[in-house]
Amino acid sequence: MIIRSIKQPLRGAIQVPGDKSISHRSVMIGSLANGTTHVSGFLAGADCLSTIECFRAMGIEIVRSGTDVTIHGKGLHGLQAPSGTLDCGNSGTTMRLLSGILAGQRFPARLTGDASLQTRPMRRVIDPLSSMHAQIASETGNGCAPLSIKPADLHGIRYQSPVASAQVKSCVLLAGLYADTETSVTEPALSRNHTELMLQGFGAQLCAEGTTVTVLPEPDLAAAEITVPGDISSAAYFITAGLMVPGSEILLTNVGINPTRDGILEVVRMMGGRIGMENIRTSGGETSADLLITHQSLHGCTIGGPLIPRLIDELPVIAVLAAFADGTTVIRDAQELKVKESNRIDLVVNMLRTMGADIIPTDDGMIINGGKPLHGGVIETNLDHRMAMSAAVAALIAEGETEIRNSDCVLISYPDFYEDLKKLRA
Ligand code: S3P
Repeated sequence: MIIRSIKQPLRGAIQVPGDKSISHRSVMIGSLANGTTHVSGFLAGADCLSTIECFRAMGIEIVRSGTDVTIHGKGLHGLQAPSGTLDCGNSGTTMRLLSGILAGQRFPARLTGDASLQTRPMRRVIDPLSSMHAQIASETGNGCAPLSIKPADLHGIRYQSPVASAQVKSCVLLAGLYADTETSVTEPALSRNHTELMLQGFGAQLCAEGTTVTVLPEPDLAAAEITVPGDISSAAYFITAGLMVPGSEILLTNVGINPTRDGILEVVRMMGGRIGMENIRTSGGETSADLLITHQSLHGCTIGGPLIPRLIDELPVIAVLAAFADGTTVIRDAQELKVKESNRIDLVVNMLRTMGADIIPTDDGMIINGGKPLHGGVIETNLDHRMAMSAAVAALIAEGETEIRNSDCVLISYPDFYEDLKKLRA
């Protein structure tokens, strides 16, 4: 994909696709509920389709028509043994959350994924699940997929998670549904709480206090209607593009603004910018709003601490925004970036250096001295969807042409990304 620098403002309205995290959970929890769950606004990206395929392979009837999905749930104990290995594709969320569910089943299962997923750390779920007496192992012993899981009687635990990870927290809570006593997870900082909200919406008994959440076992989950809001992680590309490109005015409709996910809005405020917010509404505990983005001048800021889990997936494109903003931006406490779909510290630094930015990697983030003009270049994505979209946004303000390698990887989370960008340019 070649993207040229933009000479005209970006204008128009976009409905970004459904939230990836909520879409995954709707299939998983809908499958474990009794009755028919209807989902609208589902993200038909490759990651969420991997989740659908895994549950179909366990005997759940799931009908999808575009962004509408119907799940014929069979209850907490209604999954059937899959006939082969469950393929999670590129999706860490599928593998980690599914591990928690499979740990409590009466049948064995094997999980694998693509080359990237097979290098991502799974000890973070193997360890707490093992303390719950689950029989789960990394087949090669390197702490990565393929994973094999055998039937076991699960025991409730109080888990002190070393990382603020919603995938780890959700894995343990989902396993906790099958445990003998209550299960709790305490995190170092609060990560996204979509699992907690959705489980409650389906009738599970959950108590959240500070960074600790406790779930009671064996709930009677009842099917529900789910309306998935637009994904703020996808909106992030147009939030940054609209802020950077002179004269722009973009309306992003129905974007999820769950407070555990809205860190990018706080960063824009810290950089001296303002985002208009209208039409605020809540469904199933998830709040969404229409966001109005206009071009503004911004200054650097420091991003770290409990803010990091609230914007972890947006950091590559926030780094682009920092390269545009005047002055220095420091991103710290973000070592988790190294274990995403790619090593996002290395890739962001390579991308922005190729484009002429002043950026220094650190152990847990990066330092960006912004305000230097960017120029085009050839950008490697390592098949990481968020790197491709971040590069496309940087290309808009970079002089000349930018080539994005393996740009199709946007299919993971935002299949129509380039079309939506084109609409705003027209
Ligand atoms: C997700 C949690 C985050 C995030 C990922 C989706 C989820 O990962 O980066 O894209 O849906 O629970 P971690 O749990 O590894 O932080």
